[in-house]
Amino acid sequence: MVSVTCSVVGRIPNETVRLIITTFIGLVFGFLIGVSFPTTSLAKLIYPSSFLPSIDLTYIEDKNVGLSTQTFFHRAQSSVKDNESSSTHGQNLNDTSKIWVPKNPWGAERLPPDIVAAESDFYLRRLWGKPSEDLTIKPKYLVTFTVGSDQKNNIDAAVKKFSENFTILLFHYDGRTSAWDEFEWSKRAIHVSARKQTKWWYAKRFLHPDIVAAYDYIFIWDEDIGVQHFDAEEYIKLVRKHGLEISQPGCEPNKGLTWQMTKRRGDGEVHKETEEKPGWCPDPHLPPCAAFVEIMATVFSRDAWRCVWHMIQNDLVHGWGLDFALRRCVDPAHEKIGVVDSQWIVHQNIPSLGNQGQAQGWWKSRATGVKERCTKEWRMFQNRMAQAERAYYREMAIEPPNSTAR
Ligand SMILES: *[C@@H]1O[C@H](CO)[C@@H](O)[C@H](O)[C@H]1NC(C)=O
Ligand SMILES: *[C@@H]1O[C@H](CO)[C@@H](O)[C@H](O)[C@H]1NC(C)=O
Ligand SMILES: *[C@@H]1O[C@H](CO)[C@@H](O)[C@H](O)[C@H]1NC(C)=O
Ligand SMILES: *[C@@H]1O[C@H](CO)[C@@H](O)[C@H](O)[C@H]1NC(C)=O
Repeated sequence: MVSVTCSVVGRIPNETVRLIITTFIGLVFGFLIGVSFPTTSLAKLIYPSSFLPSIDLTYIEDKNVGLSTQTFFHRAQSSVKDNESSSTHGQNLNDTSKIWVPKNPWGAERLPPDIVAAESDFYLRRLWGKPSEDLTIKPKYLVTFTVGSDQKNNIDAAVKKFSENFTILLFHYDGRTSAWDEFEWSKRAIHVSARKQTKWWYAKRFLHPDIVAAYDYIFIWDEDIGVQHFDAEEYIKLVRKHGLEISQPGCEPNKGLTWQMTKRRGDGEVHKETEEKPGWCPDPHLPPCAAFVEIMATVFSRDAWRCVWHMIQNDLVHGWGLDFALRRCVDPAHEKIGVVDSQWIVHQNIPSLGNQGQAQGWWKSRATGVKERCTKEWRMFQNRMAQAERAYYREMAIEPPNSTAR
């Protein structure tokens, strides 16, 4: 959290001489500015004439002070008022003088398209200087961790594996954001704090696709991941090379992991399919044998995330079942979803919650209740997906293909 005050920053020097000199220079400088800045040009600077109709100047009207610029505003304002009755609500489509751009983002149709900034980023800016010179580097990747301060040394180690090309965003589920001040990188990181929420809760609310549009890849990671054998820049290279839209690093140790797919293999750069226990994969191109990664250390391309974000349900927080549905966001899924073996991670504590690797800590004592909810959410998600799909095919009057059954 940064609180900004626009009061004078700094200290008055002790030495009287310096004070006097400073004051004198200030006076001269102020005088020069005053002389070289006629009022009319100042008014133009602040209110370019084309903006006038959109400025609400009722306040100035009432005051009726009589300064020339204000009279000018007043005239512009009243002429807008005269015309307002013709179309205040709803768009009069025949009135071509009014701006209405259907291609603009929903709700922004009244704006001229060139002023619309529909997307944003997490780049930190300065409070002074030219905006165009604020950013010395524009990180192309975003990495988010859902963290509690107990794991801060682990996260510290992880963050150091991400170069300056990564924006770091921490979601704090324990509210202890100041515990991170000891790390230098923490000053450049974005901190979002909301108590006892899960990774997908934060992701839905703070990683809207339009907000993270500046980033080629988005890492949405748990906090208990060991990164001794992981290099983020190398990882990105491999993901690009193999066209992976949704990916995760291979996982060690193999023992305790449920799914074959996410286990690290020693023999290559990436793998996109695997074999499971007999009967688990009627279709070898479908989860859990392909088109599948887990949701513990997932990496999304910008486009894939735009889709996945829309699939995250607002009332389901644990995200169980999401991994099985990721494939709906890329096509062909069995080629664009995969596991990177040559940059791999260690899953440090095998959580009691099972293989889903949710952020642990605050609910340990209530693990059973959480697990029940996880399972329940998974069922709800599956049902919603199945119903939505049925509704779609009914609407389109097509026979649903067999392969979407899962
Ligand atoms: C108001 O409407 C009149 C004619 O209907 C037009 O001449 C004038 O330019 C309009 N003023 C504004 C600010 O749109
Ligand atoms: C727009 O113009 C058309 C024909 O010029 C007219 O039929 C229609 O009623 C007008 N619509 C409005 C909202 O004024
Ligand atoms: C950051 O990205 C640039 C451009 O892709 C690259 O040249 C540079 O090596 C990257 N930095 C690191 C530390 O890898
Ligand atoms: C779908 O499944 C049914 C029976 O299981 C089968 O007869 C049919 O050929 C399948 N259709 C396709 C498109 O695979």
